[in-house]
Amino acid sequence: MVSEAVFFVHNVNIDALVIIEETIDMKLDIDFVRQQFPAFSEEGTRDWIFFENAGGSYVPRQVTDCFQEFLLKNKVQPYGSFALSERAGDQMDRGYQAMAALINADPDEITIGPSTTLNLYVLAQGLRHLLRPGDEIIVTNQDHEANIGCWRRLAEHGVRIREWQIDKADGELDLSDLEALINEKTKVVCCTLSSNLVGTYNDMVAIVGYAHAVGALVVADGVSYAPHVIANAPALGVDFYVYSTYKTFGPHQSILWGAPNALEQVEAQGHFFNENEPRYRLNPTGPQHAEIAAMAGITDYFDALYEHHFTESVDDQHTRAIRVFELVAEHEAELANVLLNYLKDRPDIRLLGQDQAKPGGRTSTIAFHARAMPSSHIARRLAEYGIGVGAGDFYAAR
Ligand SMILES: Cc1ncc(COP(=O)(O)O)c(C=O)c1O
Repeated sequence: MVSEAVFFVHNVNIDALVIIEETIDMKLDIDFVRQQFPAFSEEGTRDWIFFENAGGSYVPRQVTDCFQEFLLKNKVQPYGSFALSERAGDQMDRGYQAMAALINADPDEITIGPSTTLNLYVLAQGLRHLLRPGDEIIVTNQDHEANIGCWRRLAEHGVRIREWQIDKADGELDLSDLEALINEKTKVVCCTLSSNLVGTYNDMVAIVGYAHAVGALVVADGVSYAPHVIANAPALGVDFYVYSTYKTFGPHQSILWGAPNALEQVEAQGHFFNENEPRYRLNPTGPQHAEIAAMAGITDYFDALYEHHFTESVDDQHTRAIRVFELVAEHEAELANVLLNYLKDRPDIRLLGQDQAKPGGRTSTIAFHARAMPSSHIARRLAEYGIGVGAGDFYAAR
C-alpha cells in the first residue's frame, strides 16, 4: 500500500499559511484500470486470465482510439501541404512528444523503430565504426537475444566478445564478475535492466560506474523493466536505453533513447538525406505512421489513471506517470507475492531469482522450473483453466 502525502493549504490570517500534512492510503483502483481495456469486456478475451505481460500487453481504448483515428481519418502521407496530411503529421508528432516526455527525454533523443531487436541491431551497426580489432564488448547470458546477437556479430570485424555470465545457481549477475571482465579495451557494455529470467533489477548505477570508468558505452535493455517502472532515461546514467511499447500498453514499436553525446558517436543508418534528422537517422525502415500516432494513447491512458487517483494538477507527463506507476508497482508486487509464496516452498519447483517481489528489488516477472514435467505441459494445462502463460526460454536462450 502506498502512502500518499496530501498538503492542504489553509488561509488562516493575512500573514500566515498553515500547511497541514495528512496521510491517506492509496491503492490502484483495478476496476477502473480494467474498464480502460476493451479486451476485458469482449467476448473471447474477457474470461481469460492473462499472465504474459513479459510477452506483451493488451492495449487500452485510448490507444485503439488514436490508432483508429489515424487509420480512419488521417491515413495519408504525413507532413505534406494539405490539411489531412498536416493532421496526420500532427498526430504522429503527438506520439513522438508523448513518448519522449514519458521518459523525461527530448524528442530529438529518441528513435521510434519497429522493435527493440531491430533498434539494437541498427545501433550495433552504427557504433561499428568506433571499434578496432582487439576492442572488447561485454554481453551477458541473462539478456534477451536482442541485446546479445547483434553485438556478437561484430566479432566478424575482429571485436572480442566477453560474456558476463549468470551464477548458475540463482540466475543472477554478480558485479564482481563484471569487474573482472572490464578493462581498457572494453568499448561497450550491454546489459538488461531486468531480465525475464529472474526479474531482479540489475544495479545499473554500478554497471555504469565500471563502464564509464574505462570510457565504455552502456546499452541497457529496458524491455522487461519498462512495464513496471517509468524510466527517467537521462537519470539512468546509461548511454542508450531501449524498450518495446507492445509490452507497455501500446502498438508493436520500440523506443531507443540515446544520451546526446552518445548519439553523436553513432553513424547514421537511414537514408542519406536523413543523416541529420534525429528521428530518422537511426531508423532505416522509416517510421510506421499509424503506430507512432497510436502511442499518444499510452500516455492518455496513464493520464486517465492519474486523474482518477490524484487530485493535484501536475504539468509534467513524466511525473504523472511515475506517480501512477508507484501504485501499479505496489499492486503488482502484492499479486506476484501470492504466486511467489506458493512457488518458493514447493520442493518440486525451482524458482528463479528472488522469492519476494518489491518495487526496486524484483519485478513481477516470474520464471520457474518444475522438476517433474516440461514447462510446456504446465502452460497447456493452465490454458485449460483460461490462464495464459508462456513456456520456454523467452529468447534468453543462452
Ligand atoms: C527483455 C527483452 N528484451 C528484448 C526483447 C525484444 O523486443 P522486440 O520483440 O521488440 O524485438 C524482448 C522481447 O520479448 C524482451 O523480453
